[in-house]
Amino acid sequence: MKIVHTIAELRAQLRGQLRTAFVPTMGNLHEGHLSLMRIAAKNGDPVVASVFVNRLQFAPHEDFDRYPRTLQEDAKKLEAEGVYVLFAPDEKELYPEPQEFRVHPPQDLGDILEGEFRPGFFVGVTTVVLKLFQCVSPQVAVFGKKDYQQQMIIRRMCQQFALPTTIVSAPTIRDLDGLALSSRNQYLSAEQRQEAPWLYRRLTQTADQLRQMLADQSLSLEGIARLEGQARAELKARGWVPDYFAIRRQNDLKPLEQADLLKSSQGAERPQMVVLAAAQLGQPRLIDNLEVDLD
Ligand code: PAF
Repeated sequence: MKIVHTIAELRAQLRGQLRTAFVPTMGNLHEGHLSLMRIAAKNGDPVVASVFVNRLQFAPHEDFDRYPRTLQEDAKKLEAEGVYVLFAPDEKELYPEPQEFRVHPPQDLGDILEGEFRPGFFVGVTTVVLKLFQCVSPQVAVFGKKDYQQQMIIRRMCQQFALPTTIVSAPTIRDLDGLALSSRNQYLSAEQRQEAPWLYRRLTQTADQLRQMLADQSLSLEGIARLEGQARAELKARGWVPDYFAIRRQNDLKPLEQADLLKSSQGAERPQMVVLAAAQLGQPRLIDNLEVDLD
Protein backbone atom coordinates (compact mmCIF):
# COMPACT_ATOMS: atom_id res chain seq x y z
CA MET A 1 0.00 0.00 0.00
CA LYS A 2 1.24 3.47 -0.87
CA ILE A 3 0.77 6.19 1.73
CA VAL A 4 0.62 9.62 0.12
CA HIS A 5 0.30 12.99 1.79
CA THR A 6 -0.11 15.36 -1.14
CA ILE A 7 -2.78 15.79 -3.79
CA ALA A 8 -0.12 15.72 -6.52
CA GLU A 9 1.26 12.34 -5.36
CA LEU A 10 -2.26 10.97 -5.04
CA ARG A 11 -3.19 12.01 -8.58
CA ALA A 12 0.06 10.54 -9.91
CA GLN A 13 -0.68 7.22 -8.20
CA LEU A 14 -4.23 7.10 -9.59
CA ARG A 15 -3.54 8.33 -13.14
CA GLY A 16 -5.53 6.31 -15.67
CA GLN A 17 -7.66 4.55 -13.04
CA LEU A 18 -11.30 4.58 -14.07
CA ARG A 19 -12.89 2.30 -11.47
CA THR A 20 -11.52 3.69 -8.22
CA ALA A 21 -13.58 2.89 -5.12
CA PHE A 22 -13.06 5.39 -2.33
CA VAL A 23 -13.67 5.34 1.42
CA PRO A 24 -13.11 8.67 3.21
CA THR A 25 -12.55 8.42 6.96
CA MET A 26 -11.31 10.45 9.89
CA GLY A 27 -9.10 7.56 11.01
CA ASN A 28 -9.05 5.66 14.31
CA LEU A 29 -10.30 2.77 12.24
CA HIS A 30 -12.44 -0.02 13.63
CA GLU A 31 -14.22 -3.04 12.18
CA GLY A 32 -16.99 -0.75 10.86
CA HIS A 33 -14.52 1.15 8.67
CA LEU A 34 -12.87 -2.07 7.54
CA SER A 35 -16.24 -3.42 6.41
CA LEU A 36 -16.51 -0.31 4.18
CA MET A 37 -13.13 -1.19 2.60
CA ARG A 38 -14.42 -4.70 1.80
CA ILE A 39 -17.57 -3.30 0.23
CA ALA A 40 -15.43 -0.85 -1.75
CA ALA A 41 -13.34 -3.78 -3.06
CA LYS A 42 -16.51 -5.45 -4.35
CA ASN A 43 -17.54 -2.27 -6.16
CA GLY A 44 -14.35 -1.09 -7.76
CA ASP A 45 -10.61 -1.39 -8.15
CA PRO A 46 -8.31 0.01 -6.81
CA VAL A 47 -9.57 0.85 -3.32
CA VAL A 48 -8.42 4.21 -1.98
CA ALA A 49 -8.91 5.29 1.64
CA SER A 50 -8.34 8.69 3.17
CA VAL A 51 -7.64 9.65 6.76
CA PHE A 52 -8.25 13.30 7.53
CA VAL A 53 -9.72 14.84 10.67
CA ASN A 54 -11.73 17.61 9.10
CA ARG A 55 -11.73 20.73 11.25
CA LEU A 56 -14.58 22.27 9.19
CA GLN A 57 -17.14 19.81 10.52
CA PHE A 58 -16.38 20.36 14.21
CA ALA A 59 -18.01 23.14 16.23
CA PRO A 60 -15.63 25.07 18.50
CA HIS A 61 -16.89 23.22 21.62
CA GLU A 62 -16.52 19.77 19.99
CA ASP A 63 -13.69 17.25 20.18
CA PHE A 64 -11.49 18.27 17.21
CA ASP A 65 -8.31 18.58 19.30
CA ARG A 66 -8.75 15.34 21.18
CA TYR A 67 -10.18 13.31 18.27
CA PRO A 68 -8.00 10.17 18.28
CA ARG A 69 -5.23 10.28 15.65
CA THR A 70 -3.78 6.82 15.06
CA LEU A 71 -2.33 6.94 11.54
CA GLN A 72 0.28 4.17 11.98
CA GLU A 73 -2.22 1.64 13.32
CA ASP A 74 -4.77 2.73 10.70
CA ALA A 75 -2.23 2.18 7.90
CA LYS A 76 -1.51 -1.37 9.10
CA LYS A 77 -5.19 -2.23 9.13
CA LEU A 78 -5.75 -0.78 5.66
CA GLU A 79 -2.75 -2.60 4.25
CA ALA A 80 -4.14 -5.88 5.62
CA GLU A 81 -7.41 -5.12 3.78
CA GLY A 82 -5.57 -4.74 0.49
CA VAL A 83 -6.14 -1.00 0.15
CA TYR A 84 -4.04 0.36 -2.73
CA VAL A 85 -3.49 3.95 -1.65
CA LEU A 86 -3.96 5.70 1.67
CA PHE A 87 -4.32 9.45 1.26
CA ALA A 88 -3.41 11.18 4.53
CA PRO A 89 -3.06 14.91 3.87
CA ASP A 90 -2.32 17.41 6.62
CA GLU A 91 -4.44 20.51 7.07
CA LYS A 92 -2.09 22.70 5.03
CA GLU A 93 -2.41 20.34 2.08
CA LEU A 94 -6.21 20.21 2.04
CA TYR A 95 -6.82 23.75 3.28
CA PRO A 96 -3.76 25.77 2.15
CA GLU A 97 -5.85 28.90 2.49
CA PRO A 98 -9.08 29.59 4.36
CA GLN A 99 -11.81 27.48 2.73
CA GLU A 100 -14.13 30.27 1.67
CA PHE A 101 -16.10 28.33 -0.94
CA ARG A 102 -18.29 25.82 0.86
CA VAL A 103 -21.12 23.48 -0.03
CA HIS A 104 -24.42 24.29 1.72
CA PRO A 105 -26.86 21.36 1.75
CA PRO A 106 -30.53 22.34 1.36
CA GLN A 107 -32.00 23.43 4.70
CA ASP A 108 -34.80 20.89 4.72
CA LEU A 109 -32.23 18.09 4.66
CA GLY A 110 -29.13 19.68 6.18
CA ASP A 111 -30.64 21.64 9.07
CA ILE A 112 -32.79 18.89 10.59
CA LEU A 113 -31.84 16.09 13.00
CA GLU A 114 -27.99 16.12 13.18
CA GLY A 115 -27.93 19.49 11.41
CA GLU A 116 -30.23 21.05 13.99
CA PHE A 117 -28.04 20.00 16.91
CA ARG A 118 -24.70 20.41 15.13
CA PRO A 119 -25.11 23.59 13.08
CA GLY A 120 -22.60 23.76 10.25
CA PHE A 121 -21.72 20.08 10.53
CA PHE A 122 -23.01 19.08 7.10
CA VAL A 123 -21.49 22.15 5.45
CA GLY A 124 -18.13 20.91 6.77
CA VAL A 125 -18.78 17.34 5.68
CA THR A 126 -19.99 18.07 2.16
CA THR A 127 -17.24 20.61 1.57
CA VAL A 128 -14.47 18.18 2.49
CA VAL A 129 -16.11 15.27 0.69
CA LEU A 130 -16.45 17.30 -2.51
CA LYS A 131 -12.82 18.30 -2.21
CA LEU A 132 -11.68 14.73 -1.56
CA PHE A 133 -13.72 13.55 -4.54
CA GLN A 134 -11.90 16.12 -6.69
CA CYS A 135 -8.60 14.66 -5.52
CA VAL A 136 -9.49 10.96 -5.90
CA SER A 137 -11.98 11.05 -8.82
CA PRO A 138 -13.73 7.93 -7.59
CA GLN A 139 -16.26 6.00 -9.63
CA VAL A 140 -17.75 4.72 -6.38
CA ALA A 141 -17.58 5.93 -2.76
CA VAL A 142 -18.77 3.99 0.27
CA PHE A 143 -20.46 5.53 3.32
CA GLY A 144 -21.90 3.79 6.38
CA LYS A 145 -25.60 3.89 7.21
CA LYS A 146 -24.62 4.55 10.82
CA ASP A 147 -24.44 8.18 9.63
CA TYR A 148 -27.75 7.88 7.83
CA GLN A 149 -28.31 11.55 7.11
CA GLN A 150 -24.70 12.05 6.00
CA GLN A 151 -24.83 9.34 3.32
CA MET A 152 -28.15 10.69 2.08
CA ILE A 153 -26.86 14.27 1.83
CA ILE A 154 -23.73 13.16 0.01
CA ARG A 155 -25.76 11.11 -2.46
CA ARG A 156 -27.96 14.16 -3.16
CA MET A 157 -24.90 16.36 -3.53
CA CYS A 158 -23.51 13.99 -6.17
CA GLN A 159 -26.83 14.02 -8.03
CA GLN A 160 -27.23 17.79 -7.98
CA PHE A 161 -23.64 18.53 -9.02
CA ALA A 162 -23.71 15.67 -11.57
CA LEU A 163 -20.60 14.18 -9.99
CA PRO A 164 -19.54 10.95 -11.68
CA THR A 165 -19.44 9.11 -8.35
CA THR A 166 -21.98 6.51 -7.23
CA ILE A 167 -22.60 6.43 -3.49
CA VAL A 168 -22.84 2.94 -2.00
CA SER A 169 -24.41 2.67 1.46
CA ALA A 170 -23.05 0.10 3.87
CA PRO A 171 -24.81 -1.55 6.82
CA THR A 172 -23.96 -0.53 10.38
CA ILE A 173 -21.55 -2.86 12.15
CA ARG A 174 -22.42 -3.54 15.79
CA ASP A 175 -20.81 -5.06 18.82
CA LEU A 176 -22.36 -8.30 20.07
CA ASP A 177 -24.59 -6.34 22.46
CA GLY A 178 -25.91 -4.15 19.61
CA LEU A 179 -23.87 -0.99 20.15
CA ALA A 180 -23.03 0.55 16.77
CA LEU A 181 -19.25 0.75 16.32
CA SER A 182 -17.93 4.31 16.44
CA SER A 183 -14.57 5.93 17.06
CA ARG A 184 -16.25 7.95 19.80
CA ASN A 185 -17.26 4.82 21.79
CA GLN A 186 -13.85 5.00 23.39
CA TYR A 187 -14.98 8.11 25.27
CA LEU A 188 -17.49 5.94 27.21
CA SER A 189 -16.69 5.00 30.81
CA ALA A 190 -17.15 1.34 31.81
CA GLU A 191 -20.53 2.17 33.28
CA GLN A 192 -21.65 4.16 30.23
CA ARG A 193 -20.46 1.34 27.96
CA GLN A 194 -22.86 -1.00 29.80
CA GLU A 195 -25.75 1.38 29.25
CA ALA A 196 -24.90 2.39 25.66
CA PRO A 197 -26.48 -0.60 23.82
CA TRP A 198 -29.84 0.44 25.26
CA LEU A 199 -30.15 3.04 22.51
CA TYR A 200 -30.18 0.33 19.85
CA ARG A 201 -32.56 -1.81 21.91
CA ARG A 202 -34.95 1.15 22.10
CA LEU A 203 -34.71 1.71 18.33
CA THR A 204 -35.49 -1.97 17.81
CA GLN A 205 -38.48 -1.77 20.13
CA THR A 206 -39.86 1.26 18.28
CA ALA A 207 -39.36 -0.44 14.92
CA ASP A 208 -41.28 -3.48 16.22
CA GLN A 209 -44.09 -1.25 17.46
CA LEU A 210 -44.32 0.45 14.07
CA ARG A 211 -44.42 -2.86 12.24
CA GLN A 212 -47.17 -4.03 14.57
CA MET A 213 -49.18 -0.84 13.96
CA LEU A 214 -48.81 -1.30 10.22
CA ALA A 215 -49.89 -4.92 10.47
CA ASP A 216 -53.06 -4.09 12.43
CA GLN A 217 -53.67 -0.87 10.44
CA SER A 218 -53.47 1.35 13.53
CA LEU A 219 -50.56 3.52 12.38
CA SER A 220 -51.44 7.20 12.85
CA LEU A 221 -49.55 10.48 13.11
CA GLU A 222 -50.57 10.69 16.77
CA GLY A 223 -49.32 7.15 17.34
CA ILE A 224 -45.98 8.05 15.77
CA ALA A 225 -45.66 11.15 17.97
CA ARG A 226 -46.56 9.03 21.01
CA LEU A 227 -43.85 6.46 20.24
CA GLU A 228 -41.27 9.21 19.80
CA GLY A 229 -42.31 10.88 23.06
CA GLN A 230 -42.23 7.62 25.01
CA ALA A 231 -38.75 6.78 23.78
CA ARG A 232 -37.43 10.27 24.62
CA ALA A 233 -38.98 10.07 28.10
CA GLU A 234 -37.40 6.66 28.70
CA LEU A 235 -34.02 7.90 27.55
CA LYS A 236 -34.26 10.79 30.01
CA ALA A 237 -35.39 8.52 32.82
CA ARG A 238 -32.27 6.38 32.29
CA GLY A 239 -29.98 9.40 32.47
CA TRP A 240 -29.52 10.15 28.76
CA VAL A 241 -29.95 13.63 27.33
CA PRO A 242 -31.72 13.05 24.00
CA ASP A 243 -31.26 15.47 21.12
CA TYR A 244 -33.82 13.63 19.03
CA PHE A 245 -35.60 10.30 18.73
CA ALA A 246 -37.48 10.61 15.46
CA ILE A 247 -39.49 8.42 13.11
CA ARG A 248 -38.99 9.69 9.58
CA ARG A 249 -39.51 8.75 5.94
CA GLN A 250 -36.53 6.89 4.54
CA ASN A 251 -36.39 8.80 1.27
CA ASP A 252 -36.19 12.38 2.57
CA LEU A 253 -36.02 12.18 6.39
CA LYS A 254 -39.17 14.27 6.69
CA PRO A 255 -41.89 13.41 9.23
CA LEU A 256 -44.63 11.19 7.82
CA GLU A 257 -47.74 12.93 6.53
CA GLN A 258 -51.36 11.92 6.46
CA ALA A 259 -50.99 11.14 2.74
CA ASP A 260 -48.34 8.51 3.52
CA LEU A 261 -50.72 6.79 5.91
CA LEU A 262 -53.61 7.04 3.50
CA LYS A 263 -51.65 5.31 0.74
CA SER A 264 -50.79 2.59 3.21
CA SER A 265 -54.37 2.10 4.41
CA GLN A 266 -55.50 1.82 0.76
CA GLY A 267 -52.92 -0.93 0.34
CA ALA A 268 -51.15 1.16 -2.34
CA GLU A 269 -47.75 1.77 -0.76
CA ARG A 270 -46.46 1.05 2.71
CA PRO A 271 -44.45 3.92 4.21
CA GLN A 272 -40.73 3.27 4.30
CA MET A 273 -39.61 4.51 7.70
CA VAL A 274 -36.39 4.94 9.60
CA VAL A 275 -36.02 5.62 13.32
CA LEU A 276 -33.12 7.93 14.15
CA ALA A 277 -31.74 8.89 17.53
CA ALA A 278 -28.98 10.99 19.02
CA ALA A 279 -28.42 11.37 22.73
CA GLN A 280 -25.72 12.24 25.16
CA LEU A 281 -24.72 9.71 27.77
CA GLY A 282 -22.64 11.81 30.12
CA GLN A 283 -20.13 13.63 27.93
CA PRO A 284 -20.17 11.25 24.94
CA ARG A 285 -22.89 11.70 22.34
CA LEU A 286 -24.14 8.60 20.54
CA ILE A 287 -26.13 8.40 17.32
CA ASP A 288 -27.81 5.41 15.77
CA ASN A 289 -30.72 4.53 13.51
CA LEU A 290 -32.74 1.62 12.26
CA GLU A 291 -34.70 1.23 9.05
CA VAL A 292 -38.13 -0.23 9.65
CA ASP A 293 -37.92 -3.26 7.44
CA LEU A 294 -41.41 -4.24 6.38
CA ASP A 295 -40.83 -7.75 5.00
O1 PAF B 1 -17.99 10.04 8.43
C1 PAF B 1 -16.86 10.56 8.56
O2 PAF B 1 -15.94 9.93 9.07
C2 PAF B 1 -16.65 11.98 8.07
O3 PAF B 1 -17.78 12.76 8.25
C3 PAF B 1 -16.14 12.04 6.63
C4 PAF B 1 -17.18 11.52 5.65
C5 PAF B 1 -14.86 11.24 6.47
C6 PAF B 1 -15.85 13.50 6.24
O4 PAF B 1 -14.87 14.06 7.04
